[in-house]
Amino acid sequence: MFNSFQHKLSKILKTHRSLRRKESCLKILVVYDTSSSKRNTEKVAAAISEVLKVKGHNVDCMYIKDVDPGRVKNYDGVVAGAPTQWLRATKSIVQFLDTLPKDEFSGKIGAAFDTQLERMMSGNAAKGIEKKLPKLGFKIIMPPLVTYVEGSNVYEMHLKEGELEKARKYPKDLVIKLSQ
Ligand SMILES: Cc1cc2nc3c(=O)[nH]c(=O)nc-3n(C[C@H](O)[C@H](O)[C@H](O)COP(=O)(O)O)c2cc1C
Repeated sequence: MFNSFQHKLSKILKTHRSLRRKESCLKILVVYDTSSSKRNTEKVAAAISEVLKVKGHNVDCMYIKDVDPGRVKNYDGVVAGAPTQWLRATKSIVQFLDTLPKDEFSGKIGAAFDTQLERMMSGNAAKGIEKKLPKLGFKIIMPPLVTYVEGSNVYEMHLKEGELEKARKYPKDLVIKLSQ
């Protein structure tokens, strides 16, 4: 009797958990700009996307020029990133965000990331992107992800050791925030 009750209860709990998981499967766009031959920002975008997929989300990871701005409203959340150039986010990502309609993203999740040098006066693309997202209606639930590059040639910087791991941790934290 007790065993059969326990069995039923465990079945109910299992179904409940699987329903919750289904409910929390979000459609997320990871959109990035990248310009150097090392494609650092693309690598960070790919790392973020992989983890979000593993966590059960439906993710499109796309280069900014391949994204149709009219389709961004189809996503539950957007994670946008760019390299830092001349202290700020690249023109392409700024233009992209500026072309998005202002009234379609209310309450959707937004997050920003960048690649940059680890210097006092390096600027910060992620901050600039993050500032624009709430103006479009996105809800920011995590501080932006900053990843660092190094190298002797500014056109061929590479990600510092450990930065891809940092990029993989970011979506894990994001998922935890989403479930709270
Ligand atoms: C023209 C140019 C300007 C840059 N300006 C900055 C800057 O102001 N601050 C910074 O931290 N990094 C700067 N960088 C370095 C890039 O942010 C870095 O190399 C980035 O990872 C490149 O990303 P990508 O490989 O995705 O193109 C600059 C690079 C270039 C080519």
